[in-house]
Amino acid sequence: MREIGVVEDASVFIEDGFIRWIGPAGDVSTNLTDDATIFDASAYVALPGFVDAHTHMVFAGSREDEFAKRAEGISYQQIAAEGGGILSTVRATRAASKKELKKAAVRRLDQMLKHGTTTVEIKSGYGLNEETEIKMLEAIRELSDEHLMTIAPTFLGAHAIPPEYAERREGYIELICDRMLPYIARRKLARFCDVFCEEGYFTVSEARLILEKAMSLGLEPKLHADEFTAIGGTPLAATLNATSVDHLEHITSEGIEVLMNSDTVPVLLPGVSFFLKNPYAPARRLIDAGLPVAIATDFNPGSCMSFSMPLMMTIACTQMRMTPEEAITATTLNAAAALGLSSKVGSIEIGKEADIILYDVPNYRFLAYHFGINHVAHVIKHGVMLEFP
Ligand code: NIG
Ligand code: FE
Repeated sequence: MREIGVVEDASVFIEDGFIRWIGPAGDVSTNLTDDATIFDASAYVALPGFVDAHTHMVFAGSREDEFAKRAEGISYQQIAAEGGGILSTVRATRAASKKELKKAAVRRLDQMLKHGTTTVEIKSGYGLNEETEIKMLEAIRELSDEHLMTIAPTFLGAHAIPPEYAERREGYIELICDRMLPYIARRKLARFCDVFCEEGYFTVSEARLILEKAMSLGLEPKLHADEFTAIGGTPLAATLNATSVDHLEHITSEGIEVLMNSDTVPVLLPGVSFFLKNPYAPARRLIDAGLPVAIATDFNPGSCMSFSMPLMMTIACTQMRMTPEEAITATTLNAAAALGLSSKVGSIEIGKEADIILYDVPNYRFLAYHFGINHVAHVIKHGVMLEFP
């Protein structure tokens, strides 16, 4: 993760949205077609576009009231127990039209691009009924057709037990397994299925039931695990060889051990610990164990209201003892692996999508070091240099 392969004075030749050639600046002319446009980026540092592998960025409403409560010392779990938290966003999202959801999301996607993110995973999970979960996934599908951003869609019907099923949770699990999943699989509305495996949310056996059903229908498993308590989510993710297991603030030594024997990518969410004043995931232990740690924002209105990947890098470096190089690998190539997209995005390599960000910084370490401002000078998405108003 520390070997990021810096090339000084490089050129990149892009054609039809893909990277065709990379090499020393002086050698590029022999590879150029006659009609090529040359852009002088010698004033900038070029990095692959960020891959934000865990977000809940389609939602309605906002929760600054909870933010204020937490400042007074009330915890995220307490707020949730009083009917706020995820369920508050569920109420707002159920009440919103698909058009309204998309409108808010387009603004956020535009801003994400401006901040250097070119691929993003988006979860449903603020519907918790058939109608709204499908509305969210359709919104995500349409965004992915209409917006420049590369989007990976995830079904997270198992984000919380909806109030209607509070007294008969098995009924909700059945609804997910027998109705929602088959419908979503048939219409290919999601690539991944995720479950929030946590005390007060979904147990390990419920998560297993849902993910096994999802896998039998061709969806790939993901898991929210060990965020507040280690109830066994990580061993389940490893057993299922999940594409990723996310959060891990309270991962145990056993959890680390089982991940080492799986292909599951651990995705850490520094912004959540920062925002909720919770412990940080043991990034050092995971990386030193040889695991391909990824970092994502978890952007959502409750536990991390930020989609700034450079801010996540700063938090990772200052609070989790990751080096700037590890933070770059974790937000690009390893993040792509957490979405099964590492052959397409996540690095500046021949054959990959030409998603390249040019930063106005003296060197790559400045990105996490000089924090709290946007260093992006230019965004190249699928080979096109974007113009921002
Ligand atoms: O990843 N942990 C569960 N879900 C989100 C929080 C969602 C919310 O609070 O709205 C998370 O942190
Ligand atoms: Fe999340």
